[in-house]
Amino acid sequence: MSDKTLNIGIAGLGRLGKRHAEQLARRTLGARLVAACSPVAAELAWARDELGVATLHEDFGAFVRDPQLDAVVLVTPTTLHAEQTLAALDAGKHVFVEKPLSLDLADCERVEAAARRRPELVAMVGFVRRFDPSYARARADIAAGAIGKPFLVRSQTCDMNDPEGFFVRFAPTSGGIFMDCSVHDIDLARWMLGNPKATRAFASGTIALHPALAECGDVDNGLGIIEFEGGARVMLYASRTMAHGHETATDIIGTAGMLSVGVGAQRDRVVTRDAGGVRHGALTDFFERFGEAFQREMDAFVQACRGAPPALTLSDATEATRIGLALARSLRSGMPEPV
Ligand code: NAI
Repeated sequence: MSDKTLNIGIAGLGRLGKRHAEQLARRTLGARLVAACSPVAAELAWARDELGVATLHEDFGAFVRDPQLDAVVLVTPTTLHAEQTLAALDAGKHVFVEKPLSLDLADCERVEAAARRRPELVAMVGFVRRFDPSYARARADIAAGAIGKPFLVRSQTCDMNDPEGFFVRFAPTSGGIFMDCSVHDIDLARWMLGNPKATRAFASGTIALHPALAECGDVDNGLGIIEFEGGARVMLYASRTMAHGHETATDIIGTAGMLSVGVGAQRDRVVTRDAGGVRHGALTDFFERFGEAFQREMDAFVQACRGAPPALTLSDATEATRIGLALARSLRSGMPEPV
């Protein structure tokens, strides 16, 4: 492994990009955040003033070819991920790109082909839950035989209702609730089940609180079932409208036991008992739930660029898109769809 400090540039400084940028500038060992790219002048000014980023690019083409950069981190709208990843590989940069890799299967395959032509470069997609200590432990326990043969995963990504409706504005480029939220559960489920091949998917959903989602065919509560060769099954639930907080939770059921991760959305280990009953505080959002995982994910990317084995592959990202698209098709058709 090399011990060279990696010069990293970040593109996209929105809701998540700012978090990644802070982490790269302040807490990621072996990396230096030297450049940022955004079409929004205020976001670039933030990177300069808050993080001391020296090189600012408004144009993505100039950013990705910036000769000082060894690696780029792409936290841009989902619809730009594939093209920008291809441009980064073409420019000889290691690339970390947020999930999902693309909303188009052919684009995922084009990125995989380009990465195969540049085996010396790391291309990693941000399936952050793989880096969460609890999910990682569940995966290790399953591999050690703790629950026998896993055959059913029941997984949910449920966000606290946002009356401002950020995700309603975000919906036209997010790919819908299955591609945006459930794609994490899909990747987790494949990982826990040992990567079986998906065959069929069925989805349904409803709009409970945000009627504007109907304009782009999306829902604020979605349900999905995925069937796999060999008999494994996955049940999904994704919601934007929880009253209590953010609750990402997963059950993995096997022939000799069951593991549960995240049930109950507890913020910490404090439980209050009083005349009002017994209760605990709830996590507010995915940053609070997965803060440590985001840190470990970026550490893993930097270590992979320095020669460590990559934690996941681009074909994992392609499979997650393939399954997410089948669910989105099923939501529209009302019928089970082949994956
Ligand atoms: P956002 O809309 O808040 O931010 C998008 C950013 O991209 C903005 O800074 C915008 O100025 C910038 N941008 C737009 N066009 C650009 C271009 N051509 N070149 C460079 N920058 C450009 O969106 P958000 O919520 O930060 O999401 C970004 C991505 O991160 C999405 O793909 C989303 O799926 C993913 N994401 C992943 C999460 C996870 O749990 N891993 C959580 C939240 C988002």
